[in-house]
Amino acid sequence: MSQETYLTGITTTGTPHIGNYVGAIRPGIAASKDPSTKHFYFLADYHSLAKNEDPDKIVRSTLEIAAAWLALGLDTEHAYFYRQSDIPEILELTWILTGMTAKGLMNRAHSYKAAVAANEENGNKDPDKGITMALYSYPILMAADILMFKSTKVPVGQDQKQHVEMARDIAQRFNHHYGETFVLPEAVIGENTAVLKGLDGRKMSKSYNNTIPLFANEKQLRKLIMKVKTNSLEPGEPKDTHDSTLFDMYKAFATEDETAEIAKRYAEGMAWGEMKQLLFEYINDHVKPARNEYEKLIADPAIVETELRKGAKRAREIAVPYVREIRDVIGIRSLG
Ligand code: TRP
Repeated sequence: MSQETYLTGITTTGTPHIGNYVGAIRPGIAASKDPSTKHFYFLADYHSLAKNEDPDKIVRSTLEIAAAWLALGLDTEHAYFYRQSDIPEILELTWILTGMTAKGLMNRAHSYKAAVAANEENGNKDPDKGITMALYSYPILMAADILMFKSTKVPVGQDQKQHVEMARDIAQRFNHHYGETFVLPEAVIGENTAVLKGLDGRKMSKSYNNTIPLFANEKQLRKLIMKVKTNSLEPGEPKDTHDSTLFDMYKAFATEDETAEIAKRYAEGMAWGEMKQLLFEYINDHVKPARNEYEKLIADPAIVETELRKGAKRAREIAVPYVREIRDVIGIRSLG
């Protein structure tokens, strides 16, 4: 069997939180250690334009996400680690794919439909109010990201599965029209990876504003963990590990034996305050070495910039000749 190529993008909005860490960063870095597979991880900064973010926030988020992956030990000699906007060929491919994308396909994108539904709910006369073409065409840019590097496996959250399927549809249509050009990708939904709940018990997400930043300093980390919602059972009363955000967080970081030990203490009536202190100490010890490294990188962004440029140079060694080939296929050619 031919070698699998894994690719995933991280939109540059917000700061990495512990949900991103256990759900994407930690498994991504672990997987990239496998020399028998290829790995592409990139900062999807053009995707962040769909929501018209504040420019300074985009830069800051790009730095923080890149610094987090590097501080946690991503091997950038093996994995390709780059910033989308450093590969202009991705934008070129986006337009080429736009010519092969049915408008009806984009009408069916969940993300676009959700924005329309929100307008209707709010009683807006224009169902497309505030919806940019970047939001609408988002899946085409994502298809270009994926198809550019002949990805076979695309690890994403459930909410992005449809976008990967759309990339596959677009690739199929192109191959049918112009001949075999693209490799068909497949979404990989992490069934075993933890989806963490946030401070309020809903899914941890920057859009709910309920996150715990992965590299919050000790004081902030303690403060946030103290805020995690619990029920009102008193110390001494037995507690259920199901539906306990604190327990889920502990489990995401600790070993199986340690987790079993805490389950026992829940049954024995451990106090919530005690569990919070223990969880704080555990996470703090776990992230401390990487946090020190992260803080160094944030203080010296030139190191991060150098890494990203190195990644872009490697990635363009693939992208430049491939786009040349694709242009030839579609009839954008030199005349003589
Ligand atoms: N849209 C993805 C998200 O919001 C990020 C992303 C951009 C991506 N391009 C990609 C993911 C390509 C996988 C492959 O999470």
